[in-house]
Amino acid sequence: MCGIIGYIGKRKAIPILIQGLERLEYRGYDSAGVACLPIAKFDRSTDGQEGSGSIHPRFCVYKERGKIAQLKSRINHGFPDAHIGIGHTRWATHGAPSKVNAHPHLGPRGQIALVHNGIVENYDELKSELKRKGSRFKSETDTEVAAHLIESYYHGDLAQAMRLAAKRIKGFFAFVAIARSEPGRICALKRSNPLVVGIGRGEHFIASDVSALLSYTKNVIYLEDNELVELKSDSIRVTRIGSRKRLKKKVSRVDWSVEEAQKGGFRHFMLKEIYEQPRVLEEILEKRAVGKNTIEFDTISAKIQSRLKHTDKIYMVSCGTAYHAGLVGDYLFEDEQLARIPAEAHVSSEFRYSAPLIGRNDAAIFITQSGETADTLAALRQAKKRGVLTIGIVNVVGSTIAREADAVIYTHAGPEIGVASTKAYLAQLMTLSLLSAYLGVLRGRLSKSQLEKFVREAKQLPRKVSEILQNQSAIDQAARALYRKGHFLYLGRGYNFPNALEGALKLKEITYAHAHGYAAGEMKHGPIALIDSEQPVVCLAPRKSRTYDKMLSNIEEIHARQGIIISIATENDQMIKRRSRFIFWIPNTLEQFSPILTAVPLQLFAYKVAVLNCRDVDQPRNLAKSVTVE
Ligand code: F6R
Repeated sequence: MCGIIGYIGKRKAIPILIQGLERLEYRGYDSAGVACLPIAKFDRSTDGQEGSGSIHPRFCVYKERGKIAQLKSRINHGFPDAHIGIGHTRWATHGAPSKVNAHPHLGPRGQIALVHNGIVENYDELKSELKRKGSRFKSETDTEVAAHLIESYYHGDLAQAMRLAAKRIKGFFAFVAIARSEPGRICALKRSNPLVVGIGRGEHFIASDVSALLSYTKNVIYLEDNELVELKSDSIRVTRIGSRKRLKKKVSRVDWSVEEAQKGGFRHFMLKEIYEQPRVLEEILEKRAVGKNTIEFDTISAKIQSRLKHTDKIYMVSCGTAYHAGLVGDYLFEDEQLARIPAEAHVSSEFRYSAPLIGRNDAAIFITQSGETADTLAALRQAKKRGVLTIGIVNVVGSTIAREADAVIYTHAGPEIGVASTKAYLAQLMTLSLLSAYLGVLRGRLSKSQLEKFVREAKQLPRKVSEILQNQSAIDQAARALYRKGHFLYLGRGYNFPNALEGALKLKEITYAHAHGYAAGEMKHGPIALIDSEQPVVCLAPRKSRTYDKMLSNIEEIHARQGIIISIATENDQMIKRRSRFIFWIPNTLEQFSPILTAVPLQLFAYKVAVLNCRDVDQPRNLAKSVTVE
């Protein structure tokens, strides 16, 4: 986790760093800081350290506990004129969230300043070694150890010091550093964690992701693992950590606008992103469902197509909400009306440490919004070692998983800023639905006319999601009646079992209420003991479902025990209405598409409960948007 940024050029560095950090705040927000090298003497006292009599100005360092707003209000009292600087927004790993643990960290003599995203796994061993040599540490962080280590190798060439330090460091990182006696150069290197260089005119930027750079440039270079970049205002030099040979790097153009990454009048990013869902579905359909009975995936080459045609089994590997998409994918791929391929969804953190019986003839799909999730990335690398076909279903263009998988299918949801995933989830579901139909055709299981029916119904989904968004009065009522409740149960079957998990996850992560999702058939095996007249139970019961009658029986059982039933049901379903305290209607659709519709009221319900409880909806406590640590 953590967001990092660096700037070198002609403009004032500090406002650029702060704005970049605001865009990266979703990556962590327990403390933040910036360091710069002022061009003239600056009298204000800072957290920086005194240098050793050099003619170069010492670093000005500002750090605050809490969000960027805190740091910004401190800096607004006055900041130095500097044209080079680095910044960081933190999600604590080593050491509590505090001002002293906030980055940037300086070397022992104040010669270098460093920001870091990642973990130095052998920091204890390095710290003892450095202490023996006289280092004194102020913070509890692994980053300060790295700063001391780099400075111990520093003799006027920052890039060389970073190369030497990288050889000693175990773990994964993105480092951005500046040196006091080299005020014209930023050096950065990465192993596993993302870094992207922004190319301006007479200025350069570096950040954890492109959203921090979009106000300044759309031309970027993605760094690969073990690459080191040296940025001057007028040059970029990329080399491998172990070599001095200059690498030729491709310049990519980012097509997201700044506006796309901003709130657009909504109170929260999460709400904006929920409302963007009809448009997201439309875009995916425009790209993929090109004719009335054709589905296209432009990034699936003929070679990959032929491997997919003969695949024995599909593994889906992902975390959190993306794992729930994987579970829906499981039903889709195995569906006898679609691809009918054996499929298994796994949580990345389990998959990477298990020994799955995965064969060369299998395929593994890695589903991820950020494309940077550490466990999913590790699982992808393992699968690649086994020679399995790997496919990323990824939202963030150019992210590590997108680049490393054999093929990538982008979900085209646009930037998702709210920590709770909403539009990226619907985009994953839509993409998986179309992919399963595509494979159905490829493997000769789905006729053109069946595909035509499927595509026709898919094209109704944007309108149907809009309809749900237009009528939220029942969701408002339920949220107002129940927002003080501390425990919720979510039940679903078949295609909607994953959404019972997803609904519970959405509620707990943004409201902090306890919520548990179950396969409704499991009720009698324990959870039914929880039901009494105080217990809210959210029941997902769309009509077109193989298990509709079973779900109805579960609802009866909860009703008999006076549980508070909140149902998500197909319009005009009077049977369910009679037994429900609150009912959220969804339009009718095919069973395979029902999770795309049932997810929306679940998102809105969680959102409204969170707002009524005055929660920090977009940045819930302890979470970060992109989980780049295990
Ligand atoms: C929950 C949520 C997380 C992510 C998970 C995986 O709302 O957003 O559970 O789904 O951290 O992240 P990605 O999709 O970036 O791999």
